[in-house]
Amino acid sequence: MSDRENLVLEPGYAILMDDGLISKVAPEEELFEEYVPDFSNGKSDIIDLLDVNGNAIIPGLVDCHTHLLWTGDRSNEMLLRQNGSTYQEISAQGGGINRTVTSTRKASKEELISLGTERISQASNYGTTTIEVKSGYGLSVESEIKLLEASSELTNNNCNVLSTWLGAHDFPEEKTKEQYMDELINIQLPIVSENNLAKWVDVFCEPGWFNLEQTELIVNAAKKLGLKSRLHVDEFVDSNGLSLAAELGSDSADHVGFSNHDSREKAHHTGTMQVFLPGTPYVLGKHLGDGINDCLENNWNFSLATDFNPNCQTLSLPFVASLATHRLGIDPLAALVACSRNPASTLNSELEHNVGSIYEGGPADINILKSKFVDYWCQTPGTSPISKTISSGSIV
Ligand code: NIG
Ligand code: FE
Repeated sequence: MSDRENLVLEPGYAILMDDGLISKVAPEEELFEEYVPDFSNGKSDIIDLLDVNGNAIIPGLVDCHTHLLWTGDRSNEMLLRQNGSTYQEISAQGGGINRTVTSTRKASKEELISLGTERISQASNYGTTTIEVKSGYGLSVESEIKLLEASSELTNNNCNVLSTWLGAHDFPEEKTKEQYMDELINIQLPIVSENNLAKWVDVFCEPGWFNLEQTELIVNAAKKLGLKSRLHVDEFVDSNGLSLAAELGSDSADHVGFSNHDSREKAHHTGTMQVFLPGTPYVLGKHLGDGINDCLENNWNFSLATDFNPNCQTLSLPFVASLATHRLGIDPLAALVACSRNPASTLNSELEHNVGSIYEGGPADINILKSKFVDYWCQTPGTSPISKTISSGSIV
């Protein structure tokens, strides 16, 4: 993931784009000679030229784990945490996911679309051109469907949007666990599948939320209906969630902060992508963990994502990658692969063109940096390293 020679082209290349796709990547002189031999004075009748002043170009970024759609405010939870309450205790006292569910249930689909549109434009400012969006703050048939419909209507944003059904994010207060499991499998899931509202199912598989057995039931029911899975596992403790995700053939297992070494190795062999979300331990005041380094040392693929949610309100992959590079010693190039090619590999099956890397025939999704050095991309936490984003050939 940090093989510079193979991953980075020397300065002096240009990119030719046509009809939303990259048609050629070649040394600048070669492209000029072939396509604009009469080029002079910086103008051409045949093509539009964009001079990037020698700055580095990276792929459009891919955020493969977000809880984009919700309303409400949980900033009161910060003091509770600082006074010693755990995530589990805050949740048990009426905060956490269920508090966001209460506010999100009251929002109309239109309000959610408008919030989602604004949030995607924030993500675009930080170079994201493909984003995964989970439901999960509805926890009822009506509200989960409303969230997925809102997600599917986030279309006019120069950003690919892919939806995941996370009805199993928590248990709603008005139902027993048995009743809700029954609703998830026999009512919500069939509606999601029949109406093609999501391509993946997700489960918050963690002691206190959904256990391994419940997770397996949901994923297997989903598989029968042709839905794939990406799971929340081992966020607070190692409950063998990553191992289960690998056995179930999930496309990705996310958080994986506490997963053990053997589970990581198993996931590598089954092709389940480990997705680290360092923004979450960062905002919860926890250590970022050593799982990413374990993966790098063993040459196991991993991804990074924002986990945008009411606690972790960032849609900046460059910031998340800054945590990995500035705090965990990860090579900026490995962090870039973890925010582009690798997460894309878990989403590409549902896209018309494979995103996440710059190649001839691929979609013209690129970011022009404000620096000549590619490593700059994750070294400006708090501001965007990007001067221009091009998505499907159009400047965003
Ligand atoms: O991935 N852990 C589960 N879900 C979200 C956070 C949910 C919440 O606290 O609202 C996450 O971190
Ligand atoms: Fe999450």
